[in-house]
Amino acid sequence: MSFPTVRLRRLRYNPLVRHLVQDTILSPKQFILPLFVRSGKNVRQPINSMPGNFQLSIDELINEAKKCVSLGIGGIMLFGIPDVKDAVGSDAMSDTGIIAQAVRAVKDALGDKILVITDVCFCEYTNHGHCGVLSKHRGSDILDVDNDATLENLVKQSLVHVRAGADMVAPSGMIDGMIGAMRTGLDSGGFSHIPIMSYAVKYASAFYGPFREAAESAPQFGDRRSYQMDFTASASQAVREAALDLQEGADMLMVKPALAYLDIVRLIKERFEGVPLAVYNVSGEFSMVKAAAERGWIDEQRTMLESLTAMKRAGADIILTYWAKEAARLL
Ligand code: PBG
Repeated sequence: MSFPTVRLRRLRYNPLVRHLVQDTILSPKQFILPLFVRSGKNVRQPINSMPGNFQLSIDELINEAKKCVSLGIGGIMLFGIPDVKDAVGSDAMSDTGIIAQAVRAVKDALGDKILVITDVCFCEYTNHGHCGVLSKHRGSDILDVDNDATLENLVKQSLVHVRAGADMVAPSGMIDGMIGAMRTGLDSGGFSHIPIMSYAVKYASAFYGPFREAAESAPQFGDRRSYQMDFTASASQAVREAALDLQEGADMLMVKPALAYLDIVRLIKERFEGVPLAVYNVSGEFSMVKAAAERGWIDEQRTMLESLTAMKRAGADIILTYWAKEAARLL
């Protein structure tokens, strides 16, 4: 059958018909808002590169978390900015470090009203800005993230997070074996019930630019290409990364960034049917729209909803987005 018997415009000729055939529906319950926490009181330090986002002191973080609860947002993802950074990122492994204090305070204030996920990585905590401890490969003078030494620290860091009350941990460093090491560490520490959301497929991306100002986590030398993925590599590498993480015990997978990688989102969703899949709508994707909207070149709300819907349609179940509150208000 073809035109004129078939007229697809009949499915969209008025809003009521369009609503009836809507299939990709966003829900605030599946949004996660990333938040940045630092020391102090009454601090709402604007992040210039990400309008509407702030580095928050713990009291202000609690206020943000309350807003998320009232908007029905699924959870928050916490990033800590310590007062003191060092070569190994000690603050991240301390039960009195910034993130431990923050998680404890949010949980004391809100309990089970809010899902608290923590980003497990070292780039915000090290003075060199890399995602783990550094060493030189044998026979080389170039410093690189030492994979296996970093694993031990990731276990310590995740135990700090869950002891403080984190409901879920999300390792983002692209360190080989990180899921297995953390799963074993959490299980033997009595936290076998805590899920791991793995940043399984994370590309070395220019779209993280604005975040590095937010988290003060820019690498002080070099880049992250020896651990984060190369976007020119075969898409099947993404499948291998995801498969390994699942084997090691990941409960949920993530693809990051989102918009330039929707092919990968679709691929991972199809290959690993039934595994909850998150995407991270990263800082650059957010700030580009903000910047264009500030100039009157684009409609922020419509672009936001179109982008988030595309992520969902591609296969994302969960969306980490700086737009969580705005989008929740509109839905
Ligand atoms: C690493 C981490 C980064 C982001 C989330 N976790 C930065 C990086 O890998 O360089 C970026 C998120 C964003 O751009 O919004 N801890």
